[in-house]
Amino acid sequence: MRTDVFGCHDERMKAIYQEKYGVVGLEDVDEPVAGAGQVRVRVRAASVNARDWHVMRGDPYLGRLLLPAVMGPRGPRRRIRGTDFAGTVESVGAGVDRFQPGDEVFGDLGDAHGAFAEYVCASADEIEFKPGGLSWEQAAAMPLAGGTALLSLRDVGRVRAGRSVLINGASGGVGTFAVQIGRALGGSVTAVCSTRNVELVRSLGADEVVDYRRSDFVRLGRRFDVVVDLVGNRSLSDLRRVTAPGGTLVLSGGGTSRGRAQVFGPMRLIIGGQLVARLSRSGPRIVVPATRPSRELLAGLRELAESGRLTPAIDRTYQLAEVPEAIRYVEEEHARAKVVITV
Ligand SMILES: NC(=O)c1ccc[n+]([C@@H]2O[C@H](COP(=O)([O-])OP(=O)(O)OC[C@H]3O[C@@H](n4cnc5c(N)ncnc54)[C@H](OP(=O)(O)O)[C@@H]3O)[C@@H](O)[C@H]2O)c1
Repeated sequence: MRTDVFGCHDERMKAIYQEKYGVVGLEDVDEPVAGAGQVRVRVRAASVNARDWHVMRGDPYLGRLLLPAVMGPRGPRRRIRGTDFAGTVESVGAGVDRFQPGDEVFGDLGDAHGAFAEYVCASADEIEFKPGGLSWEQAAAMPLAGGTALLSLRDVGRVRAGRSVLINGASGGVGTFAVQIGRALGGSVTAVCSTRNVELVRSLGADEVVDYRRSDFVRLGRRFDVVVDLVGNRSLSDLRRVTAPGGTLVLSGGGTSRGRAQVFGPMRLIIGGQLVARLSRSGPRIVVPATRPSRELLAGLRELAESGRLTPAIDRTYQLAEVPEAIRYVEEEHARAKVVITV
């Protein structure tokens, strides 16, 4: 790494860069330099999340108003896409004593973005040691999707032995973690997915699988202590109907855009849910979790992985230059488990 007499850094790296909505590509950009409290990581793998296609497209349009730190009117605020990464610490900034060069770590860059690159700089307070026994790809698959599942089930849903859990969208990035974490916490998990994914979610430990092509979970006549919706294809009243009185409905996203630009997208259900949560005095608790980079969540995932109770499931792996293709695949909203980038 070279730095000139003015402290300017003149090394370049490959990264997936974006100026305008809808156009991303591999470019040479300045390498990041670790500031105080940060570590610089040589990225080995990164993973794709729904967040990446939302920001890539600037979609839903309402997000450009409500998420100004991330989405500008015509292009994203941060130019390098990707948030989840795993890699090797290369250098540390002032004040960092928990990590040293050579440590293997993983993390989520959150609103800063920048993981689809050869190097990232991350706050030392928001990364964790990579779980032993996991590959780079498996570790990079975990932060946002696994963190959202852990937050939703452990912290929001307070799942424990004897509690029933329904996961709508069980075969996707978050869902495949949610099935395993629901079981690890002692819950009894009912997973909703399509025919081709029934075996996958069963293999992850689901106690019961509802194939949405054959039956409708709202018409089962059952209620669950915790309902996690990851699809956003059902009305709020349908979702409340399947949640037990005193239970918890977790609205985590969804959108089913099918490639069309959306004004509200998942925000319609989320804003509706937040309004009902404030105004309604009866019915289930409704919570919209917002996953932020968190060492505590990463440590929880690491512990689950190292104890053998959580194994990230990977659908496809792409090279860094193929990120546009990988994002297009995830954008179809039919990925099975996680899509990972090898850097
Ligand atoms: N709140 C937060 O902090 C947070 C964090 C992360 C993600 N999210 C949100 O959570 C949502 C899920 O994320 P993800 O990463 O899991 O997405 P994903 O990987 O794209 O999910 C794809 C899965 O959705 C399933 N699916 C599609 N239509 C379905 C339907 N009608 N019924 C049941 N399943 C269906 C697909 O299964 P089939 O192919 O079988 O249909 C596929 O396996 C996204 O909207 C994302 O924005 C929120």
